[in-house]
This record gives sequence, C-alpha cells and structure tokens, in this order.
Amino acid sequence: MAAVPRHVLILGGTTEGRALAAALVELPSLRVTSSLAGRVAQPRLPAGEVRIGGFGGPDGLSAWLRGERVDAVVDATHPFAAGMSRNAALAAATAEVPLLALRRPGWTQVPGDRWHPVPSLAAAAEVLPGLGRRVFLTTGRQGIATFAHLDELHFLARSVDPPEPPLPSALEVLLDRGPFTFDGERALLREHRIDVLVTKDSGGAATAPKLTAARELGLPVVVVERPPLPDGVPVAPDVPGAVRWLERLRQPGPTGPTRPPHPTV
Ligand SMILES: NC(=O)c1ccc[n+]([C@@H]2O[C@H](COP(=O)([O-])OP(=O)(O)OC[C@H]3O[C@@H](n4cnc5c(N)ncnc54)[C@H](OP(=O)(O)O)[C@@H]3O)[C@@H](O)[C@H]2O)c1
Repeated sequence: MAAVPRHVLILGGTTEGRALAAALVELPSLRVTSSLAGRVAQPRLPAGEVRIGGFGGPDGLSAWLRGERVDAVVDATHPFAAGMSRNAALAAATAEVPLLALRRPGWTQVPGDRWHPVPSLAAAAEVLPGLGRRVFLTTGRQGIATFAHLDELHFLARSVDPPEPPLPSALEVLLDRGPFTFDGERALLREHRIDVLVTKDSGGAATAPKLTAARELGLPVVVVERPPLPDGVPVAPDVPGAVRWLERLRQPGPTGPTRPPHPTV
C-alpha cells in the first residue's frame, strides 16, 4: 500500500461530500472516488470518480479499500447515516486505512425556539399528537413510515423522491430538495397551516431556514438528535478541516512519508 494518500475514498451523499470532492480533484497526483448509496434516483454527482451502491457490509468495504488501493477514507455521509459510519470504522480498521469523519455541526437552539429534542424518529412519533394536528415532516423519505400509524394527524412530507408504503393515511407529499429560503419556508408553513415541524438535527445552512420560519411563527419543532459516531474516529467540522487532515497524511515525516492512523484534526 502507498505510504501517502494517492487514492481517497469519500463516502458521500451530502453537500460536504461534493464540496470535498471538488476541492480534492484540484490537488496534484490524487485519485478521488466518491461513493453514493444509490437511494436518490437522480443524485447530484460529485467531481472525480463516482461509484454507486452498497459495498456489502464492512467486509465488502474493507475488500474494496484493499482492492482499489485506497490510502484514506473520509466518511462524509449524512449525520444520520449511522450504519454506513459504523461500517466505515470497522472496514478502515480491518484494512488499516486512516479514516476521518466529516461532520457539519448540529443546529443550536436560540431564544424564541420551541424545540422538543427526541432521541429517535419513533420518539418523535410519540410526542407529535400532543403538539399539533398539521405536521410538516422533513425527516426524509425513509423516515415517513415511522409516522404511518398516526391516523388522527395530517402530514405534509417533503422528500427528494416519492416515499413508499407504509404511509400515514392523511399525507401530502412535496417533492423538492434544498437549499431552501426563509421566505419560501415561511410561505409554505402558512399556506399549509402547519402547527408543528419535525426535523432531524442535520445541521448545515441548506435546510436551516425552516427553523427560522418556525421560530418566527411560534411553532414547536420536534428535533431528532444525532446518533453518535463510532468511537475513536477523528472528526473535521468542515471541508477545509478535512483537506488539512489529508494534507498532513501526505506530508513526509523526518524519515520518509508517514501515515499516522489517527491524526488530530
Ligand atoms: N439518513 C439520512 O437522513 C440522509 C439524509 C441525506 C442524505 N443521506 C445519504 O444517503 C445515503 C444513505 O443513507 P442511509 O441513512 O440510508 O445510510 P445507512 O442506513 O447508514 O446505510 C445503510 C447501507 O447503505 C449503504 N450506504 C450508505 N451510504 C453509502 C454510501 N455513501 N456509499 C455506498 N453505500 C452506502 C451501505 O450498504 P452496504 O452495507 O451494502 O455497504 C450501508 O450499510 C448516504 O450516502 C447518506 O449520506 C442520508
């Protein structure tokens, strides 16, 4: 295996993953491959090489890392893609490839917010009936099924692709993808007479305007907290931090090129 990163695998599906790929393809002598799960019918494709579809669990991923001579992995998946992050940690350890998690910070509550933090989508479904009747659901296509049994509530769900059953009986689907604007989100909440919003703590600017709009309209927001990252994986909060981590891997040490397993970001 090469001693300095010549092939970087980005586990993507996020704005940050695309931004990192765009930054890395500019670096000399670096092969950049982005991996997408294949969930979205027409994904926004990153710069550089792209592969699509699962690896077949941690064993499949570690075999891929070895077979493609990957020298560093950046897990830039969504903060709620916990299965992929777990697989990445296991596979990187097995293949002895340095791993970094690129995670945008979560959102922070500010005065005026009426947040109800919950640990899971199921917990969000439990608290919802006590908070409102007309729900704006922004937890993604795959999460909608968790709310399917709530027959007494009316849902407006926004997702990139159409959701699949089971679905709530009173459901309106809005096919759209961010970034969204404050004016647009406020108009949407008003037009649909929404009285409670449900969101994951995804963080980032692209989907944050719904929180500002909910605050201005005095609406409660059920916020699903993030799952933890696997232990021992270094984290960069943004693309420049991830690039610095990779550049440090590429820097030769006093006795030749070094590849520390877990450099500090
Ligand atoms: N969860 C969200 O709220 C959310 C929101 C926006 C975007 N996304 C993006 O959508 C994708 C899927 O998210 P998820 O929550 O369904 O994942 P997940 O539950 O953590 O992963 C389930 C399986 O999907 C495959 N997979 C996930 N991400 C992959 C990637 N980047 N490249 C190749 N295979 C991948 C893996 O299959 P194998 O075991 O076969 O390798 C993984 O075991 C991710 O790329 C994520 O960044 C997720």
